[in-house]
Amino acid sequence: MLRIIILVLSLALANVVVGDDFESNEPKCEANYGTNGPEFSCSGSLSTDYKCNNTFLNIFNTPFYDCSNVNIFWDAPRNNLILTIEAANYTNLKQPFAVSLSSRLGLVPVYRMYSNGQEVLISKTEEKQSVHTSDENYQVVLKFKGPQRFQLYGTFIEYQVAPINTSAS
Ligand SMILES: *[C@@H]1O[C@H](CO)[C@@H](O)[C@H](O)[C@H]1NC(C)=O
Ligand SMILES: *[C@@H]1O[C@H](CO)[C@@H](O)[C@H](O)[C@H]1NC(C)=O
Ligand SMILES: *[C@@H]1O[C@H](CO)[C@@H](O)[C@H](O)[C@H]1NC(C)=O
Repeated sequence: MLRIIILVLSLALANVVVGDDFESNEPKCEANYGTNGPEFSCSGSLSTDYKCNNTFLNIFNTPFYDCSNVNIFWDAPRNNLILTIEAANYTNLKQPFAVSLSSRLGLVPVYRMYSNGQEVLISKTEEKQSVHTSDENYQVVLKFKGPQRFQLYGTFIEYQVAPINTSAS
């Protein structure tokens, strides 16, 4: 894990040296991602191109889709990352689910995005995790708002997927 962090940190520094601000005309940028190897397939890292104002990642397309406990290091976060959380055993079966977001997300503001276009800032919770139930598409769409310029080596995106407790209602 330490080795990986050092690797991503050096990549982050390389980014800074290359970095000159200009805007991409790319309508849709996608994140690069990888896992921390076969034994740690539910943890990994992702990177975004600083030239993109908005970068998209759907968990469905990644190995994290099968995971109920996900930990991703976002290397050198800049601009917006729009993460669509889908989960095996739920989205594919049209079962609602709950996503618990770790309070370690605190480094960048996070918004919940609803399919009607509404965006709601998720307030930082110091102790507790915040819980979000899937929308009508059996997804939880989150926008992580990184700084416009390089400020952070990285931030963690951590979430857990669990069934919704229907016996409570
Ligand atoms: C990216 O964001 C900047 C700053 O908000 C804005 O000036 C620019 O027009 C945006 N570029 C694109 C391609 O949307
Ligand atoms: C789906 O079920 C399998 C088998 O029980 C389990 O290993 C996996 O973690 C589950 N996936 C999610 C996202 O809960
Ligand atoms: C579900 O909710 C009920 C009632 O609030 C509670 O007693 C039970 O422990 C909960 N189960 C789980 C798995 O959280």
